[in-house]
Amino acid sequence: MEKIEALITSYVKEVDLDALALYAQVATGKRLRAKLILKIAGENDRSLKLAAIVEMIHAASLLHDDVIDDASTRRGQASINALYGDKTAIMLGDILYSKGFLELVDFEQEIAQAISDAVAQLSVGEMLDVTLSDEINLDTERYFEMIYKKTAVLIEATAKSAALLCGKDEKAFATYGKNLGLAFQIIDDVLDITMSDEQLGKPALADFKEGKTTLPYIYLFEALNSDEQTILNSLYKKELTDDDKRWIKTKMQESGAVMRAINDAQSLGREALIAIKHDQNSDLERVITDMIEREF
Ligand code: IPE
Ligand code: IPE
Ligand code: MG
Ligand code: MG
Ligand code: MG
Repeated sequence: MEKIEALITSYVKEVDLDALALYAQVATGKRLRAKLILKIAGENDRSLKLAAIVEMIHAASLLHDDVIDDASTRRGQASINALYGDKTAIMLGDILYSKGFLELVDFEQEIAQAISDAVAQLSVGEMLDVTLSDEINLDTERYFEMIYKKTAVLIEATAKSAALLCGKDEKAFATYGKNLGLAFQIIDDVLDITMSDEQLGKPALADFKEGKTTLPYIYLFEALNSDEQTILNSLYKKELTDDDKRWIKTKMQESGAVMRAINDAQSLGREALIAIKHDQNSDLERVITDMIEREF
């Protein structure tokens, strides 16, 4: 991973030194997308470069996401928008996106197209997320369309591009990435409910307050009686008290809503595993099993 960090630093430095100073204050993430590329395509100059580009693009999407969500923490630290304001976060995001696209031009057209198109779809997904946050959404189909676009499309394009780099079956790896991405976002939405602020590195139970009816909430509405639905409705977009938080967490467990969402993520994880069975790549299998067989 150090080689990838060094590449990103050199790309940002080529753009501007002030941008580099700012980028130095962006905390490092799990590097899931970079790891996928290296595990699919092996480590070489091309795969390292593609991994650096995808992580720059992903970082840009998070800089913008934190402005959109008005989030003050990211990766356990103060977000750039919290430190320097929305304008700076947006501009640094733009720099990372555009430099990422510039470097992408060095790759074969199918790869450059897959990644760029994924970013357009990611942005559509973010718009859908905002629209869906206007009022309570109880439609799972709309939820799945939104998480596919905002999260899974980039992971799908990442896995597909890595396969294209090394001449592997790109359709199989795209399917792996798509299902991994869907499961990943469902689990992100579950952890918002089940984990503490400390475990998350950001405030827990933030989604419902932000207007997001994530999959566990949709399932919870389906499971509650009408009195309880009225209570849950009254908490939508509200600052939650400790009692409210306890009530939501208890109902989420009692009703089986969280378990149902976890089961969905686990089925998607199994679909991902089936797609790449022929490749017999235990690292890629572990990415899935670590994700779906964890503490919730
Ligand atoms: C965060 O993605 C945004 C979601 C898709 C949930 P990651 O969880 O991969 O973010 P980092 O890069 O590890 O911080
Ligand atoms: C994921 O959405 C953001 C992107 C895929 C760009 P969220 O808003 O759920 O991500 P977190 O929870 O802030 O990481
Ligand atoms: Mg967010
Ligand atoms: Mg968001
Ligand atoms: Mg989230």
